[in-house]
Amino acid sequence: MAQQQTGPHPLAVVTGASSGIGLELARVFAEHGYDLVICAEDDGITGAAVELRATGARVDAVRADLATAYGVDRLYDRVRQIGAVDALAINAGVGVGGAFVDNDLAEELRLIDLNVVSVVRLAKYMVKDMVARGEGRILFTSSIAAEMPAPFLAVYGASKAFVQSFAEALRNEVKDTNVVITALQPGPTDTNFFERAHMMDTKAATGSKSDPATVARAAFDALMKGKDHVVVGAKNKVQSTLAQVLPETVTAEMHRKQTEPGSADR
Ligand SMILES: NC(=O)c1ccc[n+]([C@@H]2O[C@H](COP(=O)([O-])OP(=O)(O)OC[C@H]3O[C@@H](n4cnc5c(N)ncnc54)[C@H](OP(=O)(O)O)[C@@H]3O)[C@@H](O)[C@H]2O)c1
Repeated sequence: MAQQQTGPHPLAVVTGASSGIGLELARVFAEHGYDLVICAEDDGITGAAVELRATGARVDAVRADLATAYGVDRLYDRVRQIGAVDALAINAGVGVGGAFVDNDLAEELRLIDLNVVSVVRLAKYMVKDMVARGEGRILFTSSIAAEMPAPFLAVYGASKAFVQSFAEALRNEVKDTNVVITALQPGPTDTNFFERAHMMDTKAATGSKSDPATVARAAFDALMKGKDHVVVGAKNKVQSTLAQVLPETVTAEMHRKQTEPGSADR
């Protein structure tokens, strides 16, 4: 439903907003009266902007490769021209499925550049701004994979463990300010993730998955309530709780059953 633009609106920045969880996060922010700066690497971000403008929000689309320092700086420069950021969703991320011994090193290092290095770079700029301004909200898209070893998705799992730890530590550092930090921990979600990660022959890709719109609504709610983290879906909540009590040898086997190449047919 189109909204009336009546006065200054809060501003939300969402990375990885051309598809999946990021597009749905951007939609939820827009539906709650936020203007948007959305970012992704490819041209899909232009179509996403057109779609999101139908909500009545003002939408700036930035096409930038966040796996590079140049791309993150381009996004930040654009954001600074627009205004103070009320909410930031650091969400862009990719996986690389398959055996570590077979995977392409360059693809895995690019994953680290996006899922880890760009997260730290963007957070460095934006957390500083928010703390100086005395308010703001940041949502980090982590994963339930952050809770356990992730065989056949090893570098990805490690990247999300980094994001989870980073988000939790920052949350504590800024607890005496009005800056809120929340970690979103989705389980398998119905997006382009598995295809991009070459995982279409795995149980994780073919099994039941969450709806990205449901994940985004839960994330928005948790961020607005100031929660430290949110795991979406009953099955994922059980898995996340089990991961905290079971030995890692056991959780690694659980994960392997979902992500081993060919597991879809077993
Ligand atoms: N789907 C799941 O099961 C699942 C579970 C847990 C966590 N997550 C996390 O959720 C987040 C969103 O993923 P998704 O599932 O929604 O997958 P998705 O539909 O593939 O979305 C990924 C988004 O990241 C963007 N992106 C990828 N590489 C980029 C780069 N170098 N620079 C800028 N943007 C880039 C993509 O834009 P382009 O297409 O333009 O590259 C796209 O907008 C990721 O952090 C992922 O790790 C997903």
